[in-house]
Amino acid sequence: MFMIMTAQEIRRAYLEFLSDKQHKIIPRAQLVPKDDPTTLFTGSGMQPLLPYLLGQDHPNGSRLVDSQTCLRAQDIEEVGDNRHTTFFEMLGNWSLGDYFKQEQINWLWQFLTEVIGLDPKRIYVSCYSGSETEGIDKDKESAEIWSSIFSAAGIEAKQVEIGSCENGSKIGEQGGRIFFYEDKNWWSRSGSAKTMPDGEPGGPDTELFYLFPSVKHTSDYGEKCHVNCDCGRYIELGNCVFMEYLKQSRGFVKLPRRNVDYGGGLERIAAAAIDDPDVYSISLMRPIIDVIERLSNKSYATHTTAMRVITDHARAATFLAVDGVVPSNKEQGYVMRRLIRRAIRFAFELGIEQNFIEEVTNSVISIYKEDYPEVAEKHDQIIETLIKEEKIFRQTLRKGLKQIDRLGRSGTLSGQDIFTLYDTFGFPLELSVEEAFSRGLELHDDWRDEFNQSMAEQRERSHTASKGAFKGGLGGSGLIHKKYHTATHLLYKALRETLGDGVIQHGSNITEERLRFDFSYPKKLSPEQIKKIEDIVNMQISNDLKVSWAEYTTDKAINELGALGAFGDRYGDSVKVYSMTEEGANKPYSLEVCGGPHVDRTSELAEGGKRFKIIKEESSSSGIRRIRAVLV
Ligand code: SER
Repeated sequence: MFMIMTAQEIRRAYLEFLSDKQHKIIPRAQLVPKDDPTTLFTGSGMQPLLPYLLGQDHPNGSRLVDSQTCLRAQDIEEVGDNRHTTFFEMLGNWSLGDYFKQEQINWLWQFLTEVIGLDPKRIYVSCYSGSETEGIDKDKESAEIWSSIFSAAGIEAKQVEIGSCENGSKIGEQGGRIFFYEDKNWWSRSGSAKTMPDGEPGGPDTELFYLFPSVKHTSDYGEKCHVNCDCGRYIELGNCVFMEYLKQSRGFVKLPRRNVDYGGGLERIAAAAIDDPDVYSISLMRPIIDVIERLSNKSYATHTTAMRVITDHARAATFLAVDGVVPSNKEQGYVMRRLIRRAIRFAFELGIEQNFIEEVTNSVISIYKEDYPEVAEKHDQIIETLIKEEKIFRQTLRKGLKQIDRLGRSGTLSGQDIFTLYDTFGFPLELSVEEAFSRGLELHDDWRDEFNQSMAEQRERSHTASKGAFKGGLGGSGLIHKKYHTATHLLYKALRETLGDGVIQHGSNITEERLRFDFSYPKKLSPEQIKKIEDIVNMQISNDLKVSWAEYTTDKAINELGALGAFGDRYGDSVKVYSMTEEGANKPYSLEVCGGPHVDRTSELAEGGKRFKIIKEESSSSGIRRIRAVLV
């Protein structure tokens, strides 16, 4: 029998297990990355090690291990289910040109089954299927290593080709144990092999999943379940990336050394250890829930979502305070403010009206102070920072919520309303948007523009030149409009490639904050289709298409050249046709009747490390879908 380990014990055991295998334990990097302006937060264990993965020598040698605190602010709205959190710890080990697949896979198996005591029969894995277009082979080696591990454990391990998640939902597990996927089993900081920008390292990976048979798959997540399904029956516990490639404009080249980059979510491993699919049940979380139950006099069983949100956000805000961030209206400070205010808002819903931050934060601190001495050292500073923010927000929270009820009587909220809530009541705008949705209110289509306009007028009035909360700002609107305009053409083309020629444009609208595109299509798009569309657009952005235009007779443009025109548009005798063409290609990728203006080359859309992302897909009217997308 195994002793069931707490999360703290698992963290220590992992560091010890690998330090016995000659790994040097390195301290966690701060949540705010040093010398990396491309990202606000440390979101994975490998991020601070990038220069070493690219070939530089690490002062501690070629075998490293750590537990890295991570923050993924983009997951904020996913928080509330049983496994998503914005803050988590990633257990990581690295080989910088030292050991490779054989050692890594065997050690991971040993650690999880022999040290932690997970049930081998509930472990499933995935490997890279290979890609002809990228010229990268199937990762048979990893699959063979897994095969012999399973066979030694007396477990039958059938190999099944899945390919994409879309196909996975169609064909299901088929009694397999080792599954091959393409994009899902390639790791780089910027996604699949196809969409990686030049200069980015990456490689095939093998992922390990734990089956929770108590979780039932439902068709909301796709027809059939498979290891990468989002229903929560399989939870990914770890990812071994065999980072040996560097993307270059002409394709992949080998890195100077072949590396291993392993990362596993501590919270999820700890949940597997106690055989509970709810990560909030583990020893790093449950004590916080207990405090919230006591303060609210309500139970976690009936107020699950609110208590999860508060727990997650309190942990994130505490570590941000440890790492020196203070709430503000920009960058990391804005995310922190949003997290704290959102937690307070949920606490309010639970009826916790007295100051609660101090008690909740104290419980977070007591959980971490032994393993992270900086948390104990900064105790007073953390509490002070968070209490201050709570005081400011509490003064206006109740009034602000009343104000939303008042403003929403008409059934809609405008950007001016959201600005008033922001400016007078301290509501981060995302919070107002959430409140509006939960009350069933509609937002003005152009609420962001209206919001920015109100902000500009306010600035004008107060003559402050302080920076706003939102990237893009008010300057440079000409250029950003052009970029979104060009992105719209790429999107239209990508939609037709993915969904077929039945897709016809029905409208488009561009602001400084986003593009909006309406088109004919009968069904809601699946997450896989959305991902594919994004990938295509990002690929065409990195292909650096040249944008140019020429004038043709309308007949020639549409009927001979096959240029796309917006449905319902009326054209004169001659039209301007924009083309976007890859270097050396004999025909344009996109050809569209359009007045312009556009950028000169699609790569301009990626300036500042930006990527094309679909943030919303919804029905606009019968048979017409509406997409909103941004460059972020
Ligand atoms: N970089 C990989 C990940 O974040 C493994 O550490 O999943």
